[in-house]
Amino acid sequence: MTKDLQEINIIDICFGLGFNTLSTIYYYKKNNINKKINIYSPELDAKLVKRLKNFTYPDEFKDITYIIDALSNNEIFVDDELKIELFLGDAREYIRNLDVKIDIVYQDAFSPSVNPILWTKEYFAEIKNIMDGKGILTTYSTALKTRLALWENGFNIYINAGKEFRQATVASLTEIDGYEEVDMLHKIKCNPSIEALKD
Ligand SMILES: C[S@@+](CC[C@H](N)C(=O)[O-])C[C@H]1O[C@@H](n2cnc3c(N)ncnc32)[C@H](O)[C@@H]1O
Repeated sequence: MTKDLQEINIIDICFGLGFNTLSTIYYYKKNNINKKINIYSPELDAKLVKRLKNFTYPDEFKDITYIIDALSNNEIFVDDELKIELFLGDAREYIRNLDVKIDIVYQDAFSPSVNPILWTKEYFAEIKNIMDGKGILTTYSTALKTRLALWENGFNIYINAGKEFRQATVASLTEIDGYEEVDMLHKIKCNPSIEALKD
């Protein structure tokens, strides 16, 4: 499917309580971003999604809880600026069938030890398949195994560092400015037995 450059496509893996999606909407509205945003988000736990309408969110989200209510009831929210689509099922099945080019991936599955199937080299190959060539992936994980699984798929690996959050990872298929790049060859030399997770 061809991509409209006035739109930003985000995949939020996995939806959980929806904090990544809600934070995106919060800053999108706060900064008056003049583009349409489409967020696609798989979530295995359908019962969790049904309960979200009763969850107490932080005050920052009080003006956008109507969006959570819609997602909790119907798994979709659409207005003139936003489209948010939940898929109640397995993230890997979802990305294999997704017919859009993604600009930003929020890689926020539990962890490589809890659900390894969402952190393998093959999984990141499938993620790469749905990404726009200039897209980026962000993840809280700084594990070398995670970075290696991305790097072996051709991603450049960067450190995401800032004052009010712990270090995280940004991965990109093109070179990006403003981030310190991780010297993966050096890391591998220092950890010769390291291997990416595999399916
Ligand atoms: C760390 S939480 C995600 C937090 C979420 N990003 C947020 O902002 O609240 C991990 C979520 O992954 C979901 N999950 C685990 N395995 C999954 C899979 N194979 N496909 C889709 N969702 C999955 C769990 O049900 C859980 O809600």
